[in-house]
Amino acid sequence: MARIGFLGAGEIASAMVQTIAEAGHDIVVSERNERVSMELQARYPGLRRAPNQTVVDESDVVVLCLLADIARKELPNLTFEGGKTVISVMAGMPIAELGRLCAPATEICVAIPLPPMPLGGTPLAVYPDNTRLREIFGAHAHIHACASETMLNAHFAATGVLLPLLDQIDVAASWLSAFTGDRGEAARYVAGLVGAYCTVLTQEAGTDLAQLRAGLGTEGGLNQTLSKALADNGTLATLEAGLDSLRARLHLPPKDQ
Ligand SMILES: NC(=O)c1ccc[n+]([C@@H]2O[C@H](COP(=O)([O-])OP(=O)(O)OC[C@H]3O[C@@H](n4cnc5c(N)ncnc54)[C@H](OP(=O)(O)O)[C@@H]3O)[C@@H](O)[C@H]2O)c1
Repeated sequence: MARIGFLGAGEIASAMVQTIAEAGHDIVVSERNERVSMELQARYPGLRRAPNQTVVDESDVVVLCLLADIARKELPNLTFEGGKTVISVMAGMPIAELGRLCAPATEICVAIPLPPMPLGGTPLAVYPDNTRLREIFGAHAHIHACASETMLNAHFAATGVLLPLLDQIDVAASWLSAFTGDRGEAARYVAGLVGAYCTVLTQEAGTDLAQLRAGLGTEGGLNQTLSKALADNGTLATLEAGLDSLRARLHLPPKDQ
């Protein structure tokens, strides 16, 4: 069991705490945000709320769940000790900068949790790989250890496809509900279809993407007709161009380098 502190009690800190709260760890979270931290304390009676410096002092593992610009202002006000593990989940905060902000702590990694994490089994990309992160979150998430910071930042970019994919479910559910009159049922139906295929894809010995696409791609079939329409009007190329547009802010090399 570990002593774990969360700096910044917002959406992602709440999801991470909910994921591990029943595992017997000693958890302390920032008092701010007051509503979120008080909700967590009410739900998990052993959990403590504290000022930021106390969160750091009373933890062996400090999870940085602040917005990057807030962290740049707040971390210089805090004192870290050398033996602590720092797990940052902040987009746009390079490891070298974290090293300066959290000195003398040197065991630092960056991870990409997702809000559905408490459901279990969501991907958790990390760089560099970290034993303590695996001990704490390994049973609750699929760890994707990245080989470089660039690779990790590409994983950050890939999370940007979530809203575009949900947008497509939204359009399909709206379209379906025009016939059924039940928007909620339509959304669950379409999400269930997509979810079933995603489950197959994410299983250890699951069917691979090419096989699934081939299975759905019967010439002239419903799926192939729609897929071709999206490809022909540039939707898929737009998605790829959109991912490329995220390169600069995530310090990824320009395309074709
Ligand atoms: N949400 C996601 O899906 C997700 C996924 C992966 C990574 N991340 C990363 O996680 C970080 C946090 O994102 P989030 O979505 O959880 O944002 P959020 O909900 O806005 O949480 C940030 C929290 O920091 C608090 N805060 C602000 N100033 C503070 C200070 N000086 N001391 C302590 N706490 C302070 C805020 O409190 P107030 O509300 O009172 O200002 C807020 O509760 C970001 O860097 C983001 O890149 C987020």
